[in-house]
Amino acid sequence: MSAKPLASRLSSSLVNATRFTSPAIGAECFKSATYVLPRKAPGAVIAQQRFFSTGSLALESTKIPDFSAYRKLSGDFTNRTFTYFMVGTTGVLTAASAKITVQDFLANMAASADVLALAKVEVDMNAIPEGKNLVIKWRGKPVFIRHRTADEIQEANNVDVTSLRHPESDSDRVKRPEWLVMMGICTHLGCVPIGEAGDFGGWYCPCHGSHYDISGRIRQGPAPLNLEIPEYDFNDPKLVIG
Ligand code: FES
Repeated sequence: MSAKPLASRLSSSLVNATRFTSPAIGAECFKSATYVLPRKAPGAVIAQQRFFSTGSLALESTKIPDFSAYRKLSGDFTNRTFTYFMVGTTGVLTAASAKITVQDFLANMAASADVLALAKVEVDMNAIPEGKNLVIKWRGKPVFIRHRTADEIQEANNVDVTSLRHPESDSDRVKRPEWLVMMGICTHLGCVPIGEAGDFGGWYCPCHGSHYDISGRIRQGPAPLNLEIPEYDFNDPKLVIG
């Protein structure tokens, strides 16, 4: 297509046209035109009607409202008060949403009531005769409860603590001398020791031959530490573990 202006291109073969000046584009336009096709044989006049002005009419028909009556004529054009209000409100809402989200997340992570109930185990001490063991399950692990006799207490206290691999006096391991409460897990590799067995009258771990005394202290074998004492308390006549 030639870069020749539309008006001059048309003027050579233009037969008939309706012209008007568009204020929107500031130029002369044609609403319709009849012109001669140049390649036809001489005398062959083909009349065509083309409409060039569709866009021009569309531009004319777009009425832009006058908003000048709403323009601010004086004062602070930046409207800072409104901006600060919007920023502040958005910040407060965002902080509140974040707080609720974090609270919900932490609430979901917390242990439920039934899990918390299982975290503690109550044992009726009257059900354990003197000189007997009871093994219970707490948080999936065995707990040994021994109702010790006076002789066993005496025996536990007669041990020279300095000679022990893991020096602990018996009084450091019990809240009441007659009640010994400890985890039933060997401190070597985690086997469950056997009660009333071994060379020291306490517990014996058959996995690798660790001997624990009547206070649960390691006396012989590969275990490095005494049997662990769990959290527990007395709520007579109950013993509460956990
Ligand atoms: S696990 Fe108890 S002695 Fe090895």
